Order: sequence, then structure tokens, then C-alpha cells
Amino acid sequence: METERVSFTQMIDGTAEDFQLIRENDLETSKDLADRIIKHLALLKEDDGAYHISRLDHCLQTATRAERDGASEEWIVAALLHDIGDVLAPFSHAEVSYEILRPFVSAEVGWVVKHHGIFQMKYNKSLSEEKRNLRDQYLDHPYYLAALRFVEKWDQSSFDPDYDTFPLNHFRPMVEGIFARKPYASN
Ligand SMILES: [Fe+2]
Ligand SMILES: [Fe+2]
Repeated sequence: METERVSFTQMIDGTAEDFQLIRENDLETSKDLADRIIKHLALLKEDDGAYHISRLDHCLQTATRAERDGASEEWIVAALLHDIGDVLAPFSHAEVSYEILRPFVSAEVGWVVKHHGIFQMKYNKSLSEEKRNLRDQYLDHPYYLAALRFVEKWDQSSFDPDYDTFPLNHFRPMVEGIFARKPYASN
């Protein structure tokens, strides 16, 4: 069957029906979101840098630690995706991961993912004292302790090749559950 197309070649000429059609198409495409996210995560397997494990294994290990710590599915999926932006945005990856998660998670989980890079600076001994302490500006922030738990217990510790890490398929139902949510329902 031939795909129905809009009537315009520049948006300025589009009708209300055209934009309704676009909207319906966008909703259809969003049904595959969880699947595309899993496929993109798998790309992180190729990003092995100088660590002992690939970026994918780091994400899996971070999520595994979150799960073993009794965190909710929302936190586990956030841990799984927190570095998904690394491949396309190595200099602003936290913001990319945050924007992917933002419509589907609480404000707290989103904030922590967005700021995890700043919180992680504490462990980077090549940085100046000033940079390493940047997270201190959030000491009174209501999500400070959640961010601290995220980076200290799950993220910075997850570069261990000997850790018993769950495989990507283990997390698939959780990813499907989170991305099947109504966008912006909880924030
Ligand atoms: Fe990160
Ligand atoms: Fe990380």
C-alpha cells in the first residue's frame, strides 16, 4: 500500500489535515521507540576506549547495580541509558541522555541523569579542585542525595570486568515499560 503523504513541499503551505497526518505518523513511529533505544544501546558495544569494559557493559553494570540496590524500574532504566548519548555527543552526553528520558520519567530521575556528569567530576583526579567540587553548588538541592547515590554507588563503580552484570535482554521489558508510558505524565 502506498504511504499517504502531505500535500506540501514547504511547511508554510501545509493544511491542518497535513499536520494531523504528520502527528499520526509520529505516534506510530514512537511505538518502536523502546526497540530503537535497545538497538542504539547495542552500538555502545563498539565504544571500548581505554576502560576495561565497553561503554555498553558500563551501562549494563550501572543498571545491574541499581537493580541489586532495590531501585525502581525508572531508576534502573535511567542507569541503563545514562550514557546512551556518548556515541553522538561525547561532549554533552548527559544532556542527550536526559532529553531521551525526560518525557517518560520523574523530574528527579531526569535531573540526576542530566547532572551525573558534573557529579562524576569528583572522581576525576586530572581536573582542578574547583571542577571536582562543582557538584557542591547543589548541596542544598532536593535531588542532591539521589544524584550522589547514582554516581557513587552505581555509575563510578561500574567499570569492573569481573562484575556479574545482567545482559541487555534482561532489561528489555523494563525499557519497553518505561517508553510505553504517556509522555510527560509524571513531570
Ligand atoms: Fe556519563
Ligand atoms: Fe557512566
